[in-house]
Amino acid sequence: GAHRKRQRLPSEEESESSSEESWEAPAADTGDKAEAREVPAQPMVEDSKAASCSQPTSLPAPPPPAPRQPTAEPATFVPVDRSPEIQEARLKLPILSEEQVIMEAVAENPTVIICGETGSGKTTQVPQFLYEAGYSSNGLIGITEPRRVAAVAMSQRVAKEMNLSQRVVSYQIRYEGNVTEDTKIKFMTDGVLLREIQKDFLLSKYQVVIIDEAHERSVYTDILIGLLSRIVALRAKKQQPLKLLIMSATLRVEDFTQNTRLFSVSPPVVKVDARQFPVTVHFNKRTPLQDYSGECFRKVCKIHRMLPPGGILVFLTGQAEVHSLCRRLRKAFPCYRGSARETEEKEDSVEEMRKFKKSRNKKVPTALPRIDLDNYSVMPVDEGDEDRESEMDEEDDVMGSDLDLDLGDGEVEEEEKPDASLPLHVLPLYSLLAPEKQAQVFRPPPEGRRLCVVATNVAETSLTIPGIKYVVDCGKVKKRFYDKVTGVSSFQVTWVSQASADQRAGRAGRTEPGHCYRLYSSAVFSDFEKFSPPEITRRPVEDLVLQMKALNIEKVVNFPFPSPPPMEALVAAEELLMALGALQEPQQTGRLKQLQGEKLSRPISPLGRTMAAFPVAPRYAKMLALAQQHECLPYIVTIVAAMTIRELFEELDRPAASEGEEAQLKGKKARVSQMQRLWAGQGASLKLGDMMVLLGAVGACEYSACIPRFCETNGLRYKAMMEVRRLRGQLTTAVASVSEHATSLCVDPKMKPPSEDQVTFLRQVVLAGLGDHVARRIQSEELLDAKWKNGYKTPLLDEPVFIHPSSVLFRELPEFVVYQEIVETTKMYMRGVSAVEATWIPVLLPSYCHFEKPLEDPPPAYCPQTGRVVCHRASSFYRVGWQLPAVQVD
Ligand code: CDP
Ligand code: MG
Repeated sequence: GAHRKRQRLPSEEESESSSEESWEAPAADTGDKAEAREVPAQPMVEDSKAASCSQPTSLPAPPPPAPRQPTAEPATFVPVDRSPEIQEARLKLPILSEEQVIMEAVAENPTVIICGETGSGKTTQVPQFLYEAGYSSNGLIGITEPRRVAAVAMSQRVAKEMNLSQRVVSYQIRYEGNVTEDTKIKFMTDGVLLREIQKDFLLSKYQVVIIDEAHERSVYTDILIGLLSRIVALRAKKQQPLKLLIMSATLRVEDFTQNTRLFSVSPPVVKVDARQFPVTVHFNKRTPLQDYSGECFRKVCKIHRMLPPGGILVFLTGQAEVHSLCRRLRKAFPCYRGSARETEEKEDSVEEMRKFKKSRNKKVPTALPRIDLDNYSVMPVDEGDEDRESEMDEEDDVMGSDLDLDLGDGEVEEEEKPDASLPLHVLPLYSLLAPEKQAQVFRPPPEGRRLCVVATNVAETSLTIPGIKYVVDCGKVKKRFYDKVTGVSSFQVTWVSQASADQRAGRAGRTEPGHCYRLYSSAVFSDFEKFSPPEITRRPVEDLVLQMKALNIEKVVNFPFPSPPPMEALVAAEELLMALGALQEPQQTGRLKQLQGEKLSRPISPLGRTMAAFPVAPRYAKMLALAQQHECLPYIVTIVAAMTIRELFEELDRPAASEGEEAQLKGKKARVSQMQRLWAGQGASLKLGDMMVLLGAVGACEYSACIPRFCETNGLRYKAMMEVRRLRGQLTTAVASVSEHATSLCVDPKMKPPSEDQVTFLRQVVLAGLGDHVARRIQSEELLDAKWKNGYKTPLLDEPVFIHPSSVLFRELPEFVVYQEIVETTKMYMRGVSAVEATWIPVLLPSYCHFEKPLEDPPPAYCPQTGRVVCHRASSFYRVGWQLPAVQVD
């Protein structure tokens, strides 16, 4: 590809990405379209032709439409009062010319797929078509988005376009929503709809469900499509038809249409022709290895200084990068003179810590408390909790420090002299950005300023920013990766797929011909994967399997996945859930014969049902199920919330931009680790290890006078701490809803430190949840290699693992530990480590232990207190055969 190193013509690009109908359409074509766009604004549902055949599609002709469903026909046309400006803007959208085709297809088919490039108007217009055609007469029009940003932004946009209040066009995401009894159109994240299916499998509140952004192939989108394919059939049987629309940006819909398990009759595909202007793609000569952020900065400066007006959109990988580039650009091209200096506030964290420690109730340890594995909360039968907001979505860019507060001014290079003559309107955009701030990107920039949006891949397909002429693409994306052995995940920055890169480039050609600057060479591009594989095939699925079992889908292998997860992943999930007690032992089901040899069809247990009600992964859900004992609920909830929110602490090991920053980072690191040791405490509390640090950090933070300042000085991410707080509230409510002692639960974010007994109990709960993450220090006689010194052995890995140096137990080296995750860097490191006692293992993790015959010595004995005959059984830990202390059995 040497001939294409510097510049590519659109036609050259075409031959390479033929699978994408992207941005090559000549401008002349758009002119034609502009005229053809005079389409009646009113839908004409009654006079329908064979919709599925009337539009060109690149897919094989769909089979004849399913039989008519008369009751689905909407009765009345609902008028919408739009402003003239809105109406004018709408008419420019390509999807408007397909309104009739779409509505005819919807009238005649239970399921319809709509494909169209990003920005063609699918998300904002299709719900309006349906509303106007009367599809909200008997129920809601629901639209799912894989991202919270999109759910919120789109509900606001559609409400505005339709001149309706957000009482009618509403949204619901994990923590918040504005749905009312007047709601007709409801935007939500896919996780929210999945939860609703658990409460009401038929989704009887809905008349239409639209699955948006199906091309993203998020795990929940995939599951929803599988479930809805069944729900649609069930609703048809009940004479209460539900319409399903699947909307996707690219044309890779074969997974949906060619999947006979999913739809017996392949649904019609309506394709919306995108109006795209040509985009010239410029590749870098060389591919920068490390500093793509700096390369972005230089590129934006050049574009801004040398090229004609037009908005710039930069693609980076995470929040921290986005903020850091925004700051550099604002410094280089300021809109205002001078900068407000932050008033220095006295660091209050030490003081707060003192308060926290002081309030600590020092109790004399009594008998060792023990958790009772059989004492867990169980879902009350037939008592759905309508108000529980829960969702398990994952943000693509949750990692990285969030410097939303614009603290300090940091990293301006000497040569970046502010250029006051050229103001640049710089805006960040990422999933977790506050909705008001997100909305800014849709507004035109102030007069005389060029818009520059620095975004994560949220701007790739979910949101279309008007007026973008230049795209700067770093070519990377932050993705979650999962270790095949341990199933533990980490975020990594990798190259995007070719489809994503083309999608990003296409953002430059929405309003006029544009340019895309790729910060990598064409040779590197040709090595990208064509598409990224669907998420469901790349990650452990224990949470999904649990959710499905909660929906009484026992044979998960038979579920109509658009792309099924690998068999090993399903088996691993079933095994973990079994060990956690979330599934019923075959004997208990009374159907032993059928179940033998059918490993993957165990039904859910009452404990599993409770766990499925908690919006966290099964290991953590187990901890929550045990959380009510010994008044430990606030602590367990806090530990689980803090472990669930990734990267509570800022990344301080990052390379510094300058010498000054390096010293600053070093100082902060020392301070933070000092605070962590303080939070961990001594004795019993230190044994809880890194979980105690989380508890201490959250506890102290809630007592501090100024939380942002507290976070900044202690290296905590403010945004993450706020998430922890919200999640604590949510989890407390969730536990309360399955608890008998609901009234005694307290949602006050402030909490006293736990007593020593409680700490011991917390360690047991952590062990009960992380049972498959036990590690034992390598004994001296097992030391085969000097490198194994201080190493630990885990049941699943051959190689030794080590306690991460950032752990408070790094120097303690307890014999048995549990860990939250293993991260491989120079060594295999355990992070999130807590010490456990060997005596607890056979009691709390019986499913992981192999029990010998009852020992002769000591002999069985009568216990007068309990009136039972007790003997002792020796046990050893599965796979590794560690000998464990004997336990008492009846
Ligand atoms: O869903 P799809 O990508 O097909 O398009 P859309 O999100 O419905 O966007 C249609 C048009 O509305 C785009 O040109 C957006 O720029 C515009 N839009 C807007 O101006 N303001 C918003 N808040 C949302 C969308
Ligand atoms: Mg959309």
